[in-house]
Amino acid sequence: MSLPKRVVLVGPMGAGKSTIGRMLAKELGYHFLDSDRIIEERCGANIPWIFDVEGEDGFRQRETAMLRELSTQPRTVLATGGGAVMREENHSHLKKDALVVYLKTSIEQQVERTRKDRNRPLLQNDDPEAVLRRLFAIRDPLYTGLADVVMFTDRKSPRLVVRQLVNRMNPKSARHKRQAGKEGRKHA
Ligand code: S3P
Repeated sequence: MSLPKRVVLVGPMGAGKSTIGRMLAKELGYHFLDSDRIIEERCGANIPWIFDVEGEDGFRQRETAMLRELSTQPRTVLATGGGAVMREENHSHLKKDALVVYLKTSIEQQVERTRKDRNRPLLQNDDPEAVLRRLFAIRDPLYTGLADVVMFTDRKSPRLVVRQLVNRMNPKSARHKRQAGKEGRKHA
């Protein structure tokens, strides 16, 4: 597989899309884009405010417009919001010229990683774990159906996930790097 024009990361809240996306972009020499952050910048307000004032539907409309716009940007790694797969019209924007990577994460990890978060309106209630379970049941088949690569992130550092992804995309360069590493060690 040669390097894709774009890499699009999908997956639930707490999967590590932003952290992994930023590191992956650096590794590939691509530009990192985070659709939620760009929506916030454009709107001049954060996501809880958008949900509050415009409702989830207002946010989803902004998200669709953003995914459409960003789908034309080559040499980018895009971190999407967990609900980006919910509208069918988003699917063509997500897949356009892209390698779609599903960062698959257990409910336990999602709970752990979002525990202290106040920026995710869908989790501001008495039982965020139940919400994450319900969303997972609906969305996991959608993430899986869209993905070219499914990558498990549980018990892996972001660095390891990035290394595994780069190896999947460009096995030749990975072999080359391993070989260079061995020779480097030989001469150390
Ligand atoms: C959402 C996930 C969030 C953000 C919004 C809605 C969702 O993004 O888009 O709060 O529906 O799962 P992250 O997945 O980056 O937390």
